[in-house]
Amino acid sequence: MTQVDDRAAVKLERVSMRYGSMRVYEDVDLVIERGERLGLVGGSGSGKSTMMRQMIGLQAPTAGRVTVFGQTLYSPGARHAQMLRDRCGVLFQAGGLFTDLNVYDNVALPLRELRVLDEDLIRELVYLKLRLVGLAPETAGLMPYELSGGMTKRAGLARALALEPELLFLDEPTSGLDPIGSENFVRLIGRLHSELEFTMVLVTHDLLSLPALCDRIAVLADGRLAAVGTLDEILASQHPTVQKLFHGARAQQIFGARMEAGHA
Ligand SMILES: Nc1ncnc2c1ncn2[C@@H]1O[C@H](COP(=O)(O)OP(=O)(O)O)[C@@H](O)[C@H]1O
Ligand SMILES: [Mg+2]
Repeated sequence: MTQVDDRAAVKLERVSMRYGSMRVYEDVDLVIERGERLGLVGGSGSGKSTMMRQMIGLQAPTAGRVTVFGQTLYSPGARHAQMLRDRCGVLFQAGGLFTDLNVYDNVALPLRELRVLDEDLIRELVYLKLRLVGLAPETAGLMPYELSGGMTKRAGLARALALEPELLFLDEPTSGLDPIGSENFVRLIGRLHSELEFTMVLVTHDLLSLPALCDRIAVLADGRLAAVGTLDEILASQHPTVQKLFHGARAQQIFGARMEAGHA
């Protein structure tokens, strides 16, 4: 009998992933509660984006069960992925904008795909979303190649938020931004979360964004979920790879005070 867990936004049960003979991860169990902000962290190539695609229903795991809002996307033996399009928003790493559409049409796309809204309402919603992510109305007419890195991320975010998702996935939202752009974008995401109250999965190797944006952190290392917990719990983890990630020179700069507090 399948157990429907409506309380959880996302549930991974014994999920494993291989590409041919290469193991990416094995036996991952993870529950993301509704309204939670989870940071999925790990070195480059550890499988963060792959795991995110499995939560969205874009890529089947080799084994295990993936459930989103109580609906099974993948289960052992049966692979019936169904992306929960109207409940999930995704900001892909490169922004994911269609290069031959201007910003307006990119943001309008998911709204038009619903096939129930007329163009007047769509226009209203597009400008509302642009305002929400801090883009001027004039941006609507620009093509993706005319946008700066920060504007591209904001436009991608406006599209991800178009259908007012309950679950928002952000893949490396600050990558490619300079420190100030990155700080602004982190602040924007934090503000949007407190206004819109979606569940959030933040895939990142940017440790700086974690304290402000995540309730819990899951660390993917050595083909396992090596540690899951609050930032303080992660900082106290004895796992060698987790220690390496969170106690390097850069981490020391970011978490220094917090680490000392933890050891006091
Ligand atoms: N389509 C693919 N075919 C083969 N190997 C892949 C494919 N996609 C990703 N990989 C490999 O799987 C591993 C995890 O990739 P990815 O999920 O993109 O990691 P991350 O997002 O953590 O950097 C990497 O070693 C990558 O090279
Ligand atoms: Mg990635």
